[in-house]
Amino acid sequence: MHIYNFDDSFYDTVAEINLSSLKKNFNLIKKESRKNTKSKNKEVKICSIVKANAYGHGIYEISKALTGFGTDYLGTSDYIESLSIKKYLNNNSKRKVNIICLGTLPENKKFLTEIVSNDIEVSATDIKTVELLNRVASTLNKKPKVHIQFDTGMNRVGITFPEILQAVKKISELKNIKIKGIFSHFATSEIKNETYAKQQIHLFTEVVRFLENEGIKFELKHFQNTGGIFNYKRDFFNMVRPGISLYGYYPEQNKPKGLPELEPVMNFRSKINQIKTVPGKTSISYGRKYFTKRDEIIASVPVGYGDGFYRGLTNNTEVMIRNKKYPVVGTVCMDWVMVNLKNNSNIKRGERVLIFGKDFPAYHIAKKMNTLPYEILCNISTRVKRIYIK
Ligand SMILES: Cc1ncc(COP(=O)(O)O)c(C=O)c1O
Repeated sequence: MHIYNFDDSFYDTVAEINLSSLKKNFNLIKKESRKNTKSKNKEVKICSIVKANAYGHGIYEISKALTGFGTDYLGTSDYIESLSIKKYLNNNSKRKVNIICLGTLPENKKFLTEIVSNDIEVSATDIKTVELLNRVASTLNKKPKVHIQFDTGMNRVGITFPEILQAVKKISELKNIKIKGIFSHFATSEIKNETYAKQQIHLFTEVVRFLENEGIKFELKHFQNTGGIFNYKRDFFNMVRPGISLYGYYPEQNKPKGLPELEPVMNFRSKINQIKTVPGKTSISYGRKYFTKRDEIIASVPVGYGDGFYRGLTNNTEVMIRNKKYPVVGTVCMDWVMVNLKNNSNIKRGERVLIFGKDFPAYHIAKKMNTLPYEILCNISTRVKRIYIK
C-alpha cells in the first residue's frame, strides 16, 4: 500500500489504532461471553472477526494483537484474507491461533490445495464443494476441519432446514473431512428478546441436538456475533464471534442503554493545513453549497471522500478540534474539507482535527449517513496511514 516507508509524522491524515483499547474490548467481551454458561468456569472460546481488513483497522496488526491477547480463533470471510494472515502470523507471532474462513469454499483445486495445506478451517455451505475439498485433501493426506454453516433464517449462505440433516450426515461420511463445528448467523441480534432471533436459536438447537443424538459430534457450536453476545446468552453455545464490539462499537447508531462502555479503537484524524479569513457572502468549495454569513475563519483540512470522509457529510457534520465541535462547511472534496472555526483565532495551522474516535465516536457520522459504525470504519481508504499505538 505505502511503498515509501515515511516516518508517521509525514502523514496529515491518519487512522490511529489504539491496541490497548482493543485489548480492553477483547477482555470485556470475553467476560460477557462467559455469562453464556451457568458454570462460571466453563470455557467459551472466542473467534475474533477480522474480515474486511479488520473492519478497516488493518488485518495484520489487529490479528497479531488479538492472537497475543489469547483469541482462540481469527475469523475472516475471504480465503485470501485467511491465507494472508496465516502467512503473516507464521513470520510475526510466537503464539499459534486457529484461522477460520466463514465464506464459501472456492471450486478451484489449486486454491483448495492452498487452503488445506495451510490448515485453514473452512465453512461448509454446500455438499458439492465439501466433496471436492475431500478429494483434494485425500491427495494431500490431510483432514481439513469443517464448520457446517446452518442457515437458520439469514437466507444468505449456508445449508437450510431440512436439507441440513442429510447434508451433515453425508459430510460426516467423507473420509478426509473432520467436522469440527456447526454455526449459524443472526438476522436481528441487535434487538433484545426478538421473536425471529429466538426462532433461529430454537431451530439451531433442535437440529443440533437431533444430529448429536444420531451420533454426530460438534466440538464447537457458535452463533453469537456482537448483538448475540449481549442480547442472546445461551448455555448451548461454546464459541462466540465478536466483530464490531472488538473495535469499540455496538451494532447500532447509538450506544445502547444499560450495556457496558466499549472503547473506539480507531481515531480518524487529520491536521489543519490552511486558515483563511473569508469575507461575508462568499461561497466555499464545489457547487457553492455554503456562503459565509459574515467574516468567517475557515480552516482547510486535507481529508476527503478519497480517505473515507463521505461527500454526503457536506454541510452536515462536525469535527473536533481541542475537544470542541466545529461544523464542516461546503462540499466535501476528494482530498479536502473546510471547517468553520467560529472566529476562534487561537486555533493554528497544524492543529489536530478529530473526525471520529474515542472522544467523538463514529455513531454521529453513522446517524447522519443513515448507516452503522461498520460502514464508517470499513470505508477508511487504503491511502490513510494506519498508526498503531499501545
Ligand atoms: C458470520 C459472521 N459472524 C460474526 C460476525 C461479526 O458480527 P458483528 O460485527 O456484528 O459482531 C459477522 C459479521 O458480519 C459474520 O458475518
